[in-house]
Amino acid sequence: MDCLISRDLLLGLCLLTQIRGTLCVTETELLDHLFGNNYNRKARPLKDASKNVTVSIELEIKEFQGLDEQAGILLFTGFFEAIWFDEFLQWNTTEYPIDYIALPADQIWLPDFGIANSADSFYQRTFVRDYWVHVDHTGSLRWYAGSTLKTTCSLSVSKFPFDKQTCIIVLENTVYAAAAVDIIPMGRTPFNLLSSDINGLWKIVGYHVTKKFFPNDGYIWPRLIFTLHMERLPAYYLWSILLPCVLLTILTSSIYWLPLESGERISLGITVMLSYFLTLLVLDGYLPVTSLDQPLLGTLVNTMMALATFAVTTSIILSYVLNNYSGRLSPSSRAFFFGFLARVVCMRHCVPKTEELKYNDRDHDVADVTREIRTQKSHSDIEEIRNHLRTIIQRYEDSDSEKAIAEEWKAATRILDCLFFWVNLLVILVSFVFLYVNTA
Ligand SMILES: *[C@@H]1O[C@H](CO)[C@@H](O)[C@H](O)[C@H]1NC(C)=O
Ligand SMILES: *[C@@H]1O[C@H](CO)[C@@H](O)[C@H](O)[C@H]1NC(C)=O
Repeated sequence: MDCLISRDLLLGLCLLTQIRGTLCVTETELLDHLFGNNYNRKARPLKDASKNVTVSIELEIKEFQGLDEQAGILLFTGFFEAIWFDEFLQWNTTEYPIDYIALPADQIWLPDFGIANSADSFYQRTFVRDYWVHVDHTGSLRWYAGSTLKTTCSLSVSKFPFDKQTCIIVLENTVYAAAAVDIIPMGRTPFNLLSSDINGLWKIVGYHVTKKFFPNDGYIWPRLIFTLHMERLPAYYLWSILLPCVLLTILTSSIYWLPLESGERISLGITVMLSYFLTLLVLDGYLPVTSLDQPLLGTLVNTMMALATFAVTTSIILSYVLNNYSGRLSPSSRAFFFGFLARVVCMRHCVPKTEELKYNDRDHDVADVTREIRTQKSHSDIEEIRNHLRTIIQRYEDSDSEKAIAEEWKAATRILDCLFFWVNLLVILVSFVFLYVNTA
């Protein structure tokens, strides 16, 4: 009902205006007027073909879907706004009182720019299929089209997770050189961002557009480069990678405090090594697969793994030495271990006391004993007792010297352990300082 009434009303109005001398036109009539006189969508919309069509372009990033670091792809929902003049799509608003019309993009001439570094397809078909063009009576055309776009972005991750990345979106013409169709950044804001972070893992710190020309095939071609500067928000990675790494370094250092004789030391070392390997795997999940540059954090984890390997290897070697060497240390190595090394690593309390053997005057002792016995027993008995006593003393002496030798070896390994511990600590400290200085 409403519809009928309003149509009658419109007809009435139209008749009224016609009586007053103005035209009442429908959009169909305007379209017939525009496309009737040989509009050819294959030809550039210029009355003078020696000129160029200047297309102003603005890129609007509505939403970041993410940055696929492993593949090196920036994923975003982007809209392009392109404005140009079509000299054949103008009309006189006195004759056709319509301000603007909308036309399907595939009905008119379109500029041919595409995304040169697209990870998807160069030319976005959906732009043409799904979006219409706003046509103003002055001949100014505005084409606003967008979709989810993917562009390649080469990342340099040596400073991960404190890295800054620069991604570019490059627009180029496919068929028209700059002299025929030029693309220029639009007005003062050719690049618009609706949000400044991606996934909570990146922050946009800057963006700008540059216009360039490049020669190819004897023509000069236009190129628009939209540049995005991003900074990684490191908190997540500090929690998931760096903190476990720091905790594991404490475990690596504590390996040296376990007694060599217990097998626990080796199994702890291997567990720590595997944990580092796991950390490395987790880290690899965030990084591009490339041999060109490696993150310093990865180098740090590798260094820590090497330290754990070193701890395990030295434990095995030292326990082998402890179990298989029974001779005395040579005086020069005694001097090296107990004189020099013990002082260096502050382990002087470990140095075994170098007591001389106690039974030097055993002949005298035995003589004393025998003198007392002599008064009571016969000579042969006394000689027998004397021999027995000598054997006993010999046994004691042997066992004491064995113990002393074992103590000596043990002390030497303990001092070496201590040295390794300090070296380990030093390497850890230097590694972290190096990482800090070179990334943060
Ligand atoms: C538009 O048409 C009217 C009437 O035909 C004419 O007087 C006017 O000059 C035209 N305007 C332009 C800009 O051509
Ligand atoms: C395109 O035309 C405009 C206006 O005529 C001119 O200023 C510009 O230099 C031309 N661009 C190229 C690339 O020739």
